[in-house]
Amino acid sequence: MYITVEKPKDLFKKCFDFTLADEVKAQGVYPFFHPIDENEGPVVSFGGRKLVMAGSNNYLGLTSNPRVKEASINAIKKYGTSCSGSRYMTGTVNLHLELERQLADFFEKESCLLFSTGYQTGQGIIPTLVQRGEYLVSDRDNHASLVAAAIMAQGAGAKLVRFNHNNMDDLERVLQSIPDNAPRLIVVDGVFSVSGEIVELPRLVELAKQYGARIVIDDAHAVGVIGKGGRGTASEFNLVDDVDLIMGTFSKTFGSLGGYVVGEEKVIDYIKHNASSLIFSASPTPASVAAVLVSLQIIRDQPELMTRLVENTDYVRQGLLKAGFRLMPSRTAIVTVLISDQMKTLLFWKKLFDAGVYVNAFIRPGVMPGHEALRTSFMATHEKEHLDKVITEFCTIGKELGVI
Ligand SMILES: Cc1ncc(COP(=O)(O)O)c(C=O)c1O
Repeated sequence: MYITVEKPKDLFKKCFDFTLADEVKAQGVYPFFHPIDENEGPVVSFGGRKLVMAGSNNYLGLTSNPRVKEASINAIKKYGTSCSGSRYMTGTVNLHLELERQLADFFEKESCLLFSTGYQTGQGIIPTLVQRGEYLVSDRDNHASLVAAAIMAQGAGAKLVRFNHNNMDDLERVLQSIPDNAPRLIVVDGVFSVSGEIVELPRLVELAKQYGARIVIDDAHAVGVIGKGGRGTASEFNLVDDVDLIMGTFSKTFGSLGGYVVGEEKVIDYIKHNASSLIFSASPTPASVAAVLVSLQIIRDQPELMTRLVENTDYVRQGLLKAGFRLMPSRTAIVTVLISDQMKTLLFWKKLFDAGVYVNAFIRPGVMPGHEALRTSFMATHEKEHLDKVITEFCTIGKELGVI
């Protein structure tokens, strides 16, 4: 007697069937993974051609600051290129502790914990704090890293409930739907990464108090951009004491790589001894941490950089609005131009690239169909000629493609 066993389907079939990227490449408008061969900050070089960089999160221009670069080089000389282990074991050097102390002080919180990326920070905090039977209350437009962290928590038995983007009435509806005695954490971006919009924090804090929820804010795009001396969203609204945890990244304003969370000492200590993404991943490199220490000093000492960033962004925002572009609501360093059509977005991106302006194309699956957009972001170190170039090329191409 023969038993016929059906051969399993190939797991990789989806990869072999995936053609979207090749189709876009064939049309010559592929906007991703283009290698930069030199980076001066506001101007970058692709294939030997200089472009104005209007898509970086290097908000204060610190990646090319000589003091920041020198600090990284000196740290490599002293500690080597890697910690070769997690913070938990052999991967903690003096610089980590010094930066944790300084960041806690900067954000006026008791304690701080560093992670190796901002992405891992969310992965570390959320599933560690929100456990089986507890509730995570999340904005629908939160950053992908928070979405992934939420799914991780959900996989371990936490309940995930989402509310409509920045809609505090919907947040209240969701909070009311949670069983009265269930512990709950609200998680939101301080500045939403696609639009640049700021969270409605005062109302959110009121609701959190009324319904007994803790709050985490991801301030990746807020620090160095808004708040007193660049201290971010909670500071912007004078609500630092009302936000339990503030987390962020070093890959934007701080001009480096890594992540952090600040808050009450006992809570940070709990995360420190339980977060998988901290315990089982190598610590931020000495070079990355040393860069942040100097960047933090610059943020404290040179508030004029933040003023320049605001002026530069407002200049472009006003220029594009005057020309008739539809912009997403933002008063931060992100100016997102709605195109609402995938092919037009890609074509617009390519024409800007050819004309010497680099921006980010947001298409599916990054945004919902109909919300395709070109996201621009600015730096304190952009000169007026760079900003004028961005506005001029947007207007020329916008008219050519019938966007304005
Ligand atoms: C809101 C938000 N959170 C987290 C991250 C992830 O930070 P990192 O680049 O340090 O992993 C980003 C980066 O894009 C972000 O925009």
